[in-house]
Amino acid sequence: MSRVGVAFVGCGYVADFYARTISAHPGLELVGVFDRDAGRAERFSAHFDVPAYASLDELLVDGRVALVANLTNPESHFDVSRRVLESGRHVYSEKPLAMDVAHAEELVDLSRDRGLLLASAPCSILGETAQTLWKALREKRIGKVRLVYAEMDDGMVHRMPHQRWMSESGTPWPSHDEFAVGCTLEHAGYYVTWLTAFFGPAESVTAFASCQVPDKAEDLPPESVAPDFSVAAIRFVSGVVARLTCSIVAPQDHSLRIVGDEGVLGTEDCWYYGSPVHIQRFVTIRRRTVPNPLKKRVRLVRRPPRYQVRASAQMDFSRGIAEMANALAEERPCRLSREYSLHNTEVVLAIQNAPRLGTPYRVRSTFPPMEPMPWAR
Ligand SMILES: NC(=O)c1ccc[n+]([C@@H]2O[C@H](COP(=O)([O-])OP(=O)(O)OC[C@H]3O[C@@H](n4cnc5c(N)ncnc54)[C@H](O)[C@@H]3O)[C@@H](O)[C@H]2O)c1
Repeated sequence: MSRVGVAFVGCGYVADFYARTISAHPGLELVGVFDRDAGRAERFSAHFDVPAYASLDELLVDGRVALVANLTNPESHFDVSRRVLESGRHVYSEKPLAMDVAHAEELVDLSRDRGLLLASAPCSILGETAQTLWKALREKRIGKVRLVYAEMDDGMVHRMPHQRWMSESGTPWPSHDEFAVGCTLEHAGYYVTWLTAFFGPAESVTAFASCQVPDKAEDLPPESVAPDFSVAAIRFVSGVVARLTCSIVAPQDHSLRIVGDEGVLGTEDCWYYGSPVHIQRFVTIRRRTVPNPLKKRVRLVRRPPRYQVRASAQMDFSRGIAEMANALAEERPCRLSREYSLHNTEVVLAIQNAPRLGTPYRVRSTFPPMEPMPWAR
């Protein structure tokens, strides 16, 4: 099988995670990188031994590049993705697809018109834990699902020594951008993408978002600091309701609990592809019906490979790019469809912008059902 030439735009903190995981995918070849900060591009290029382009134009005329991973800051996603699509390349974008729904829709239309693939991170729905949960749901292991509680609390990041967090190739963690963009846009997608794949399109979002620590960043005026807490009730067309909480204020909790008629299905950490999955069936003890305190492990559909990612998140960041390349090679729809990416972006933006948009927000977009991974059917 011929390899798909991939280029990265953006050589910052997250780019290392892609560089470290792309080699796990024999169908992908990293042919070059570009960053508007030439020093960063040079450092990344030297560290990972990959050529750096002098400009985006130079990258876009390289005939070996078939797919571009847009790893820039969220504010640059739309412009960079649009230019890449206009040049005839497929795009895998870091989240969010764009900072507003109109721009995300424009990218989706452009990619459809040009017959190009467009997908957005995160891709952890393709991971072993998510696929195991989904299989258990399809097999009705907990009966009819009624309710989901998903937690994306990441601890008091501003109280942590984040100034010392450094990527392997030498880029500091972008605290300014992270605090200005906010934990909802940065993290809600990790669960929204799972929930929409499991339960289908969302119908409405009733959300609340607030900034509880406005003076968390020395280099940002309080009015430029994004909400550091949000809570959303998402109603799915299928009838399931999920409560999703995001914060960088409460202690770390990345857990998921899916409540069905027969029990509770869950996992502890959606940032680990091998996070164990468990079921607690309901039992009646002393006239009270409760989840069995003895959690039953659900066998993972397969063991995830080990990645050399020096990060708190043990995820294969390149799996979404590999899925796109495989879809092209196999001439089949990509699991991370442009419609799925747009839908997840719209839901996340509805949570982030709840104070401005008002609630409940009626979700406009929809997407065709996704196929499970072949090893998880
Ligand atoms: N930091 C994390 O742990 C993390 C984890 C997962 C996903 N992400 C996502 O990855 C993306 C990038 O985050 P990051 O942490 O790497 O940020 P970063 O600031 O460390 O790196 C972004 C890089 O993009 C470059 N850039 C910005 N606009 C550009 C443009 N128009 N053309 C070329 N280069 C441009 C910047 O110079 C910078 O080097 C964001 O969407 C973020 O949500 C970050």
